[in-house]
Amino acid sequence: MKQSLEDHAARFDEKAGDYDESKSEEYRACASLVVDHAAPDPDDTVLDLGTGTGAIALPLAEDAARVIGRDISEGMLEQAREKAAERGLEPVEFGEGRFREPAVPDDADVDVVTSNFAMHHLSDAEKREAIDVIADLEPDRIVLGDVMLFGEADPEEPFYSPEVDDPATVGVLADAFTDAGYALTAVELVHDQVGVLVAERSGARAADSAADASGGSEPDGDDESSGADEP
Ligand SMILES: C[S@@+](CC[C@H](N)C(=O)[O-])C[C@H]1O[C@@H](n2cnc3c(N)ncnc32)[C@H](O)[C@@H]1O
Repeated sequence: MKQSLEDHAARFDEKAGDYDESKSEEYRACASLVVDHAAPDPDDTVLDLGTGTGAIALPLAEDAARVIGRDISEGMLEQAREKAAERGLEPVEFGEGRFREPAVPDDADVDVVTSNFAMHHLSDAEKREAIDVIADLEPDRIVLGDVMLFGEADPEEPFYSPEVDDPATVGVLADAFTDAGYALTAVELVHDQVGVLVAERSGARAADSAADASGGSEPDGDDESSGADEP
């Protein structure tokens, strides 16, 4: 991470009041793809990390049973809460939490995790840790929209400010998801430096959990390596 969490939080606190104005076409396309791919069922619980002013959490709260928005900037969270109140959206709750400590309430069973334009603030090692933390929540689906590199990093191009951003290559993110037991099921290129990845629990990991839940055991020969195929 090129800045501390406190620095990022302070930067977004300052921006919060006018954050929603003048968003780029690519940002809007990315947010829209994240919402579409998240597609929660009516009884699903969604966790939205780096939720900001609620660009993803609020539309999903129209479809899901519960949406938990987490962010490090109280200023951004306050904007999100105001918008939820204006729209009368009750299934959504906003509070402090971070990628590697998402502060999921004990009574929540997360089905879908989303994040848009936020994870690129973490270093690649921290992104891996965050993806492991998310995978431990055992959601069926993870939808990550973000600044990510489909080719060479180009600071002259939009979306990447080297002093605050640390975008990963798509390959690094794909490896992190597959190592965590998730298979990529969709890759959407929005711009050479912006994309959306959809990762779903791979069969073996889902079966392991089902066996754990029922107290059963897996048949011999089913090792971890069989579950994390590249798409
Ligand atoms: C560019 S905004 C995106 C907000 C929203 N997801 C959207 O699509 O508009 C990035 C957000 O990530 C938050 N953030 C940065 N680092 C974070 C971390 N480690 N954990 C949680 N949120 C973080 C910032 O406070 C900010 O609200």
